[in-house]
Amino acid sequence: MEVMAVKIGFIGAGKVGCCLGKLFCEKGLEVTGFYNRHKEGAIFASEFTNTAVFENASDVVLSSDAIFITVNDGNISGVFNDIKHCSLKGKYICHCSGALTAAQAFDKINETGATGYSIHPLFPVSDKLTSYGKLKDAFFCIEGTSEKGVELWRDIFEKANLKVKHLQTDRKTTYHTACVFASNLVVGIIEKSLSFFEECSFTKEEAISALSPLITANINAILEKGPTAALTGPIERGDKMTVQHHLECLNNAEDITLYKVLSKEILKIAMKKNPQKDYTDIAKILEV
Ligand SMILES: NC(=O)c1ccc[n+]([C@@H]2O[C@H](COP(=O)([O-])OP(=O)(O)OC[C@H]3O[C@@H](n4cnc5c(N)ncnc54)[C@H](OP(=O)(O)O)[C@@H]3O)[C@@H](O)[C@H]2O)c1
Repeated sequence: MEVMAVKIGFIGAGKVGCCLGKLFCEKGLEVTGFYNRHKEGAIFASEFTNTAVFENASDVVLSSDAIFITVNDGNISGVFNDIKHCSLKGKYICHCSGALTAAQAFDKINETGATGYSIHPLFPVSDKLTSYGKLKDAFFCIEGTSEKGVELWRDIFEKANLKVKHLQTDRKTTYHTACVFASNLVVGIIEKSLSFFEECSFTKEEAISALSPLITANINAILEKGPTAALTGPIERGDKMTVQHHLECLNNAEDITLYKVLSKEILKIAMKKNPQKDYTDIAKILEV
């Protein structure tokens, strides 16, 4: 099939459905329209993208070559099962979950004659109206039940000037774990830092404001130069007394383990960065 001729319909008109639909339209792809559990959602998305409102999921299937099931992860399989009675032969069934593979979400898809794809935008889509503008800079990570189909999607995204990466199916969970390390778990680390600031009589608001330049400069340095060049702090400097004092001020085993485990990761970077330096004492302090 000619890549730009694929007609794309959406089941689920939430944040990702709306934004991806709008982005596809702006990139010249043909979007048929939206079905949503509550009709207001579909009306909003159709007005936003100048496409149709569908009364039910079957109508999306009838009108589209590719069906994006952009509902919450827990409902993807149910929606797929609901459209199985339609003729799915030759259709491309897609979801946008980072956590699920296509085969996990679309049970026995091979028996329907359709092929399945997970197409995950590596981006926090927080707003139906505005996020699509930034979505164009995101990576779209694709895996699927058909290599030929994955290549078609790669072509579609590349021709639309979008960044795309083909994921092997058996790496999907590793990929999602990597995303969680870089985003979700950072939330946990910052929350932990805020709790220590509160012990120093900062309010949460004061602590966030005080941390803002530190966090921003650190993240920018990592993104611009990479973690090795961006690394600063007591471990890289080899300040073992400082590290020892930090560990003494932590008063529960979980915090000590967290500090040691993350510090050991930093120590590996420091050792590569400064091969001439002796980090033996710090390594001993960090033993769990
Ligand atoms: N948001 C992100 O940052 C992000 C990033 C990457 C990937 N994703 C993935 O994108 C997918 C959608 O996430 P989202 O953030 O867009 O969720 P969302 O904003 O909560 O939207 C989900 C939409 O699905 C509709 N829906 C739920 N069950 C349905 C059903 N059975 N039939 C028809 N419509 C149904 C909901 O309708 P109602 O209006 O009736 O509730 C809602 O409009 C998920 O797989 C998620 O993992 C999200």
